[in-house]
Amino acid sequence: MSRTTKKVCIIGASGKLGQYMVQHALDRGHEVVGVCRERSAPKLDRFADRISIVPGPTNDPEVVRQAVAGCDGVLTVLAPWGVQQYSSGTAQAVLDHAEPHARLVFSCGWHITRDGQDRYSRRFLATVRLVTWLAKAVRAVEIDDQVEACRRIFTSDRRWTVVRGSDLEEGPSQGLPVWSRHVGDPILESNLTRRVDFALFMVAALDDDSLVHQEPAIVGRLSPSATAHRQQPEGAR
Ligand SMILES: NC(=O)c1ccc[n+]([C@@H]2O[C@H](COP(=O)([O-])OP(=O)(O)OC[C@H]3O[C@@H](n4cnc5c(N)ncnc54)[C@H](OP(=O)(O)O)[C@@H]3O)[C@@H](O)[C@H]2O)c1
Repeated sequence: MSRTTKKVCIIGASGKLGQYMVQHALDRGHEVVGVCRERSAPKLDRFADRISIVPGPTNDPEVVRQAVAGCDGVLTVLAPWGVQQYSSGTAQAVLDHAEPHARLVFSCGWHITRDGQDRYSRRFLATVRLVTWLAKAVRAVEIDDQVEACRRIFTSDRRWTVVRGSDLEEGPSQGLPVWSRHVGDPILESNLTRRVDFALFMVAALDDDSLVHQEPAIVGRLSPSATAHRQQPEGAR
């Protein structure tokens, strides 16, 4: 793993996860370009003299093209807002316009599966189905489109990583989350990660080539299941 200073674009920089990623990236000495909706730019005021901002919808190819130019890494929050292919449009714009050498790291949730080997509890599946249906019915969130976004990423030959977040909570950092290849693995059982540490994992992935073409499912480093199983070889970090 090599850790060097980079120019990093954060797509969705004004959200909760995005703001943590901005802070971690600056802490590592990276140059940061943030993309966020124009009306959300004030949420980044505390970073104003240290980052540049390209305002606009994250699924606008022209906004993304401008923001990712010259960037060695792109951290993308896949947010399935509205019924407008927001996630897949955002992912496609990044895949189309990022520099050829760039490391691309995307965020999503445990519900995304690549190889079908994830084992979900009945309760988890029922909740995803209900949320998907309800959110689409009120035209607020399009979970299916985050699935489509990840399908496009998984079939891309770009240097991607898709980080699959567990349930999230706020609170001080517990350090880099642990991960495993499949939901259902015992180390992930606690299903809880601090949001600040989800962001830490995203930023750290820029320097971890062993995560290229992987979709790690993460859980908090100090969560009970991680503490109990961290000695297991599979995926422990
Ligand atoms: N929340 C969870 O429990 C959870 C669990 C597992 C994984 N994840 C994943 O973690 C990532 C971040 O999720 P989060 O819940 O922490 O949210 P978040 O970081 O606050 O991100 C929400 C993003 O969506 C944008 N957004 C909000 N409303 C919008 C709208 N109507 N139209 C367009 N963009 C809009 C926000 O931008 P503005 O600043 O402009 O509003 C922000 O960039 C996502 O990839 C999610 O799939 C979340």
